[in-house]
Amino acid sequence: MGTDIRMERKDAVVELVIDRPTKKNALTAEMYAMMAEVLRDADGDPAVRAILIRGTRDTFCAGNDIEDFIKAPPNAEDHPVFRFMHELSHATKPVVAAVAGSAIGIGTTMLLHCDLVYVADNARFSTPFTGLGLCPENASSYLLPLVAGYQRAAELLLLGEPFGADKALQCGFVTQVVPQQEVVTAARAAAAKLAALPAKSVRITKALIKRPHLARIEEHIRAEADAFRPMLGEPAAREAFAAFKERRKPDFSKIA
Ligand code: COA
Repeated sequence: MGTDIRMERKDAVVELVIDRPTKKNALTAEMYAMMAEVLRDADGDPAVRAILIRGTRDTFCAGNDIEDFIKAPPNAEDHPVFRFMHELSHATKPVVAAVAGSAIGIGTTMLLHCDLVYVADNARFSTPFTGLGLCPENASSYLLPLVAGYQRAAELLLLGEPFGADKALQCGFVTQVVPQQEVVTAARAAAAKLAALPAKSVRITKALIKRPHLARIEEHIRAEADAFRPMLGEPAAREAFAAFKERRKPDFSKIA
């Protein structure tokens, strides 16, 4: 396991830790591969009863690494990002998230697949896809309207502006907002409670909750990826990535 993704075992709970603080925990293809592996192994291990995903103290995840979008674009269906999306959306064990600081792009959309989401009062979310010349991913164009309602989802996905913990709670994808120093403790307590319950009851309950949505989630992940992949090489995304690198505002005025 590389150092950017760590796996910590606490009794019957596996903690998947995103730990690349120098890049605000932005995710590379290699990191998605490691995350997919941790999720698959945890889900398949009968001794594991809950999974907890967290970042570092001040940051959850700044989304896909923007340089990696160019170096290792998700061109093929077996790209690690799709393996990660598949393992998370098909996890049969309960998944708890602890979010502090920035949760951007897939840092926000992965929460839509988690069962319990504990969020620090300093958390900042965004789904900035349009501003990057891209479109939603990870079934967020299906799951966000489902949990937040159409207009709220349209605002978040079309405008892509940052928002805080209270708005995330109103949008329906947060279990509880807690002070920053308590967020991991709250998530661990919830994971421990889940792990202490009869595993079969928890597994069947989760499967029943997810049942109406799984086929649609898969269909949306595919449709979004079909749109997303070519957009990565188009002028709007190229301008957005260059602007991020040069620390300036992108100029889309001459781009269709
Ligand atoms: N991809 C690649 N590098 C990233 C990154 C990303 N998604 N997010 C942050 N970084 C890097 C920065 O380039 C910087 O690297 P450097 O020190 O080598 O220059 C480092 O992480 C720290 O980021 P910085 O922007 O200086 O920190 P900040 O506290 O001012 O802002 C964020 C933090 C997360 C709000 C800001 O970095 C950001 O908006 N990142 C991009 C998020 C994004 O658009 N993700 C893609 C979603 S699809």
